[in-house]
Amino acid sequence: MSALISPPAPGGPVGRLLRSRLAAALTTPHGVDRYLERFNPMWAAHEVRARVVSVHRETTGDAATGSAPVATLTLQPTSTWRGHRAGQHVLVGVELPGSAKRHTRAFSISSAASAPGEQFTLTIRAHDEGQVSSYLVREAQPGTILHLSQAQGEFTLVESPATPTISRLLFITGGSGITPAMSMVRTLLRDGYDGHAGRRVTFLHFARSPEDQIFADELARIAAADNGVEVHLRYGDQLFSEFELRRLVPDYKETDTWLCGPPGLVELVTAAYDGSSRLRMEFFKPAVARAAVSTGSTTERSAVEGEVSFTRSGTTTAATGASLLEQAEELGLKPEFGCRMGICFSCTRTKTAGTVRNVLTGEESSLPDEEIRICVTAAAGDCHIDL
Ligand SMILES: Cc1cc2nc3c(=O)[nH]c(=O)nc-3n(C[C@H](O)[C@H](O)[C@H](O)COP(=O)(O)OP(=O)(O)OC[C@H]3O[C@@H](n4cnc5c(N)ncnc54)[C@H](O)[C@@H]3O)c2cc1C
Ligand code: FES
Repeated sequence: MSALISPPAPGGPVGRLLRSRLAAALTTPHGVDRYLERFNPMWAAHEVRARVVSVHRETTGDAATGSAPVATLTLQPTSTWRGHRAGQHVLVGVELPGSAKRHTRAFSISSAASAPGEQFTLTIRAHDEGQVSSYLVREAQPGTILHLSQAQGEFTLVESPATPTISRLLFITGGSGITPAMSMVRTLLRDGYDGHAGRRVTFLHFARSPEDQIFADELARIAAADNGVEVHLRYGDQLFSEFELRRLVPDYKETDTWLCGPPGLVELVTAAYDGSSRLRMEFFKPAVARAAVSTGSTTERSAVEGEVSFTRSGTTTAATGASLLEQAEELGLKPEFGCRMGICFSCTRTKTAGTVRNVLTGEESSLPDEEIRICVTAAAGDCHIDL
């Protein structure tokens, strides 16, 4: 009986059978996971899903100051989850009440590195008009089922904490950008990182106010312990300054640094590092903001000449250099999107003619009938998009 109730282990005979060509052929066209899901949402042969185990309120938010509530969701993934490295993110698919579509967004994993099938946490800020973040923070409850990707991303620790060459680490974060850094610090401490032999972690975090501080109690405990981790919390108008960074970490440009936060913070820190390869960044914001920060300019937007035609809806507009997703939204169209960062492929459309530019790499392409991600693509002249 327990074999019927427990999810099939991926490496076991039932798991292998469910992932076989025979199972795929027998369950065409829906696939084996559609049938398993009906039986039990926590059974899967290929896909990854997760059940919300608990919801912990980190901050309540304050409408008067415009701060938004934050919650940490603990998730039990299906046995198909391969685990994650500290700093990685996951794509979360949610079927919102009253919507037939699945909405996908990226969230960094806030708990320490996980092994296959192990529980992990997401810590989410509910954006005012944010569909998915508001649903997850305000309405998700134990038992809610979420669709997941495997963990992805390279914003991770470069080496194992056991490696003696890791001696100095620096995390600079702002707002909910603390989540991947928290996963890394939790992993380091769990795996025995300490302050011996000159090892030191400096964690510099910026929040709106003490009331908005995520993980406040845990950060206070980490700061008080003898573990080689220094925590510096800055609030409100205590903005980032190169002068202060130099005081905290004099050789910061030669120190492995992980940066994640709002565009303003990213811009200031990037300028202070002046091209140093020791600085790694993760972005939560849409791609165009990211491109503007990395190129240090938004002037390209106005330099484009040409017309964008969204052929299926019969609308045309002047190319502005904004992403095609933004241009479509400005016209009142509602194309599907997920991460708005070029990582989830939800916004893929066909460009039937014309020249476009990848806003992250600057690369241009004029190939006909090309699949493009409209969130990271802008017109570079006249172009036709099947939308
Ligand atoms: C790699 C990665 C990791 C991320 N990790 C986290 C995380 O750990 N915790 C977390 O809370 N969020 C994280 N995010 C942001 C998250 O993916 C969503 O963008 C955010 O939750 C808003 O989604 P939404 O559906 O609620 O808003 P939408 O319905 O998509 O947008 C509604 C409104 O909010 C604005 N908006 C959308 N995204 C943002 C944003 N990121 N910041 C400010 N305004 C926005 C839009 O412009 C729009 O006006 C991450 C994003 C990426 C790309
Ligand atoms: S919305 Fe995710 S790739 Fe475009």
